[in-house]
Amino acid sequence: MTDLASDSPSGAGTDGAAAAELNGLVKLYGARCVPLVYDPFLWLGEHRVMADLRREVVGWAGGRVLEVGAGTGLNIPHYGEGLRELVLTEPEPAMSQRLQRRAKAAQVPARVLTAFAEHLPFDDSSFDNVVVTLALCTVADPAAALQQARRVLVDGGRLLFIEHVRADKGSALERWQRRLHRPWRAFAYGCRCNQDTLRLLDEAGFETSGIRQERWRGMPPIVRPLVYGAALAV
Ligand SMILES: C[S@@+](CC[C@H](N)C(=O)[O-])C[C@H]1O[C@@H](n2cnc3c(N)ncnc32)[C@H](O)[C@@H]1O
Repeated sequence: MTDLASDSPSGAGTDGAAAAELNGLVKLYGARCVPLVYDPFLWLGEHRVMADLRREVVGWAGGRVLEVGAGTGLNIPHYGEGLRELVLTEPEPAMSQRLQRRAKAAQVPARVLTAFAEHLPFDDSSFDNVVVTLALCTVADPAAALQQARRVLVDGGRLLFIEHVRADKGSALERWQRRLHRPWRAFAYGCRCNQDTLRLLDEAGFETSGIRQERWRGMPPIVRPLVYGAALAV
């Protein structure tokens, strides 16, 4: 899924053979274990912060809605009745199985599709909202994913997002994020703990002035800085 060899936002790569071996292990571990441990690992962070953020941000969704990197479907209970259509995409089959189960219990009719965020199989301007939570840090090419989100959104559509991001530049936490970037990435199945997602949103043509910040209490410090909000496709 995620290529660890084409690694870090700071530009540092790993040796080819070691990276390939690590990649294989990560893929095996990811495909088998991550779907099983994902919800329990997040439990405390969900309980303290994330469930409330999901309720708020996902509650803004209306009309035709696409969620990318939907994982095990933790956002599904928060979609309200004002939706005309809900499409949930996820590339990882084992995550998708759990997603399917939650989608059946959704308050709104939901379709689950296998798709990468970088290659969305939808026409231009097909959705009023695109939802992405905790996934831009993991997709292999977040800039391409955001371009795709922009493409499938109508003009004036909104990207509703919650992402953990790089800490303030020069802070002690940012230095720890840099030090722990690689082991965290192997442990957390490709997640980049120090991604500057707000910059990527700006570069992809989203208006981010109303973005809010939060701390993801209950989770390791390197993934605590959160940003969330509704970024307008301009
Ligand atoms: C940390 S999980 C977040 C899941 C869910 N959005 C949530 O909020 O709990 C990251 C998700 O992104 C998915 N993912 C990884 N690479 C992706 C890609 N290229 N396109 C779309 N989703 C991807 C993973 O399979 C995983 O389900």
